Amino acid sequence: TDSEGKKHFTLTMQSGSTEFLEGKQTPTWGINGSYLGPTLRVSRGDQVSFDVINQLNETSTLHWHGMRLPAVMDGGPHQMIEAGATWEPHWTIEQPAATTWYHPHLHGKTAQHVYRGLAGLFIVEDEESKKLPSEYGVNDIPMIIQDKLIKGDGSFNENMSMTPFGLLGNQILVNGTYDPYLEITASQVRFRLLNGSNARAYNIGFSDNRSFYLLGNDAGLLPEPVLLDRLLLSPGERTEIVVEFEPGEETILHSFAGKDGIENGEFDLVKMIADTSLSASSPLPNHLTAEPLIDVPENVKVRKFELTTKSAINGKEMDMNRIDEVIPAGAREIWEITNKGWDHNFHIHDAAFTVMDKNGELPPLYERGRKDTVFIPNGTTVRLAVDFGSYPDPDTPYMYHCHLLYHEDSGMMGQFVIV
Ligand code: C2O
Ligand code: CU
Ligand code: CU
Repeated sequence: TDSEGKKHFTLTMQSGSTEFLEGKQTPTWGINGSYLGPTLRVSRGDQVSFDVINQLNETSTLHWHGMRLPAVMDGGPHQMIEAGATWEPHWTIEQPAATTWYHPHLHGKTAQHVYRGLAGLFIVEDEESKKLPSEYGVNDIPMIIQDKLIKGDGSFNENMSMTPFGLLGNQILVNGTYDPYLEITASQVRFRLLNGSNARAYNIGFSDNRSFYLLGNDAGLLPEPVLLDRLLLSPGERTEIVVEFEPGEETILHSFAGKDGIENGEFDLVKMIADTSLSASSPLPNHLTAEPLIDVPENVKVRKFELTTKSAINGKEMDMNRIDEVIPAGAREIWEITNKGWDHNFHIHDAAFTVMDKNGELPPLYERGRKDTVFIPNGTTVRLAVDFGSYPDPDTPYMYHCHLLYHEDSGMMGQFVIV
């Protein structure tokens, strides 16, 4: 519902079953349905409120990944929603346009709850983003990319510890659809891609190697579009791209094999078939946003984090009762994260950051701009210029963690408060 910038949503977490493969029922979870949840769309300045109803038989939470909001509204491990209960978070959207998402964050159970299907997109628009292709489902198309292992009887294999990185599937679902195709009706289409997988990273491009424009990353638009033909998307990351189509042509959004581990494996994601006549699009603006890039003053505070294997950050396993970092409201800091172990990524709640460098060099083009999650392969040190939120609350922590969900559940997570 929508009146005067107030938006109320009712989200019901429920169990059900879904036919991904013909003739096979898979027991799944969903939000307002049997698998995944609705795409929520709001504008900067809106006051949003929710009834999050837990109709599951167990406790869960619902976290707003990418949202800038008070810690008690964050939906992390401390905001538990018991079976049968309703949680009523609310806040004002005070951040630039971005493609964010929501998913459970119950400590120790996040991998399973997300894998069963609890996730959805949460799109923030502003004056600038609305100048880009924005006709939802026509030239503005969301894609939640996930890999699954489906057993012979149709049920999901839920062996979260099957590899050091967690569960890696061999079947791709996009928006909960197996073997999907998309009819293209516009000459220019914006795709909002979310890697909603537990562990797999996708090396995304097109089967015909066409190039496309990158418009933005996790936490907002880039200053100007960037021409690319590949981008790497690790779990939890989002990207917005624009692709041009000629009438009648076909191509496939594809994931190309990367190095061993979570980038391994080659997958068709979505087959795309353009109509013989396409609606014309206006040219992309040269400048996408006037929002300044995140930078840090000199001599700013530097915090260092070390990643190794799967269950700790700086040698400490996640403890719900320990605050690891205390950060002044509105602070800008450098977070320097060194990975001396397995492949990981790193996500910070209630924050946006720019990747300053990776092993001393500028990050690849696809990692520029505003982000909240970054891939940190083994042997890499990244420096992030982080912009923290400004809702002080010394008693309620936000999380930072590896977004490989098995690692997160195993304790590769820490807590910070904003004071
Ligand atoms: Cu997408 Cu702390 O999570
Ligand atoms: Cu998050
Ligand atoms: Cu990890």
